[in-house]
Amino acid sequence: MSITNDTVSSSRPHIGTQPTPVTAAFPPDFLWGAATSAYQIEGAVHEDGRAPSMWDRFAAIPGATYQGQTGEVAADHYHHMEEDVALMAELNLNAYRFSLSWPRILPQGTGAVNDRGLDFYDHLVDTLLAKGIRPLATLYHWDLPIALQDRGGWLVRDTAYAFADYAEVVARRLGDRVQWWITLNEPWCIAYLGYALGIHAPGLQDKQLAVGAGHHALLAHGLAVPRLRAHLTPQAQVGIAPDFYPVYAADDRPETLLAVKRADAFRNRWFLDPIMRGHYPENLFSDMGVTPPPIQENDFSIISTPIDFLGVNYYSRMLVRSRTDTTSVPADSYEAVDRVPGASYTEMGWEIFPDGLANILTRIHREYAPKAMIVTESGAAFDDQRDSNGDIHDQQRIDYLREHIQTVAQVIRQGVPIKGYIVWSFLDNFEWSEGYRKRFGLVYVDYATQRRIVKDSGRWYANFVASL
Ligand code: FCB
Repeated sequence: MSITNDTVSSSRPHIGTQPTPVTAAFPPDFLWGAATSAYQIEGAVHEDGRAPSMWDRFAAIPGATYQGQTGEVAADHYHHMEEDVALMAELNLNAYRFSLSWPRILPQGTGAVNDRGLDFYDHLVDTLLAKGIRPLATLYHWDLPIALQDRGGWLVRDTAYAFADYAEVVARRLGDRVQWWITLNEPWCIAYLGYALGIHAPGLQDKQLAVGAGHHALLAHGLAVPRLRAHLTPQAQVGIAPDFYPVYAADDRPETLLAVKRADAFRNRWFLDPIMRGHYPENLFSDMGVTPPPIQENDFSIISTPIDFLGVNYYSRMLVRSRTDTTSVPADSYEAVDRVPGASYTEMGWEIFPDGLANILTRIHREYAPKAMIVTESGAAFDDQRDSNGDIHDQQRIDYLREHIQTVAQVIRQGVPIKGYIVWSFLDNFEWSEGYRKRFGLVYVDYATQRRIVKDSGRWYANFVASL
């Protein structure tokens, strides 16, 4: 079965009916991969000198996660690494995006390096390369060392400098072999989910703290870029992976059009503008009802250090309208429509909206012109059930991936430089506060036995990549 001639029926437009075969759009060196992150899959939280991260502490707070679940064992990837990489090769992946656990490598966050922590990633990289799978290394996917959290975490500038030191430690060890580097995963989530909504670690609920945390995360990114490059090969590519939710208007009232602009600044430009333009969006902080974060003289030139590519994590869009019962803060004066008539939703309650990916990629290209972009996350949680043979027929995920890949093909044909498409996720894993009940993998994990079972979507993706 391949993407151009599969027999699976779908109510949505069929990729094979496109006049130009979708495969024609993708260059031969295109990165076809899948992603994971350290805390979500590794387990082994007490092993080989790893110290706790702020997620170990947060997940242990009663009520913080679904049924009190934690990443203590997760998919036990730490002990299944070779088997997992062999499975990636079976799925024809030519790229794998993973994150490194800062508290495995620098258990105190700074200072003494734990070689056993680095050894794990060294071995992972060699195992990937031996199978022809290109590693994309993310330095920070939310698991801040607890020692740094105890000193203020992202609320203090020192954490940004500690991150740059950590980046250099990793680059010295892996820089000769890893070409693709991502500093931070989703700075908006680091700041807002962690410090304003309190649904992610460290669980604080204060918008003012979120803008400070966000600023230090941006600074960490900018400080790390040259520290990485100093130890990488000349071909190395350094970027960052923010998440984007293109914002659409639910009606055409002028107040709603203003709401769209505000929501876009808050959800997409808060982090993108400093990185690509060296300043925050105008009115962002007053619209949020907060004061600007403490900004020092050279911060914006550090934060806007040129990058080689922009990662784009995309799941859904926002459909917003102005509220009539407006309150004092403009950010509270609009609302998102969370059930769109006729739309389909994933198990996360996220609207399936492939056009949003085209929208955000073409818009970023037009307005910010990064040298290149990679879709660093795209995927969906569905209620995967094993049938009597133990198989998982996740047709909805196949449809989801097909439609999003088709969208990327269209965007490439328009001349937008997209270098890769990375599915979230390779394996089912610990979905943060949702625990293990939300499954995103191409590969199913039976947590009781740690058995891996390739879902139909995994086979479909393998066949698609093979058909190119
Ligand atoms: C993204 C995260 C990733 C995973 C997916 C579903 O926001 O980067 O770790 O949780 O969402």
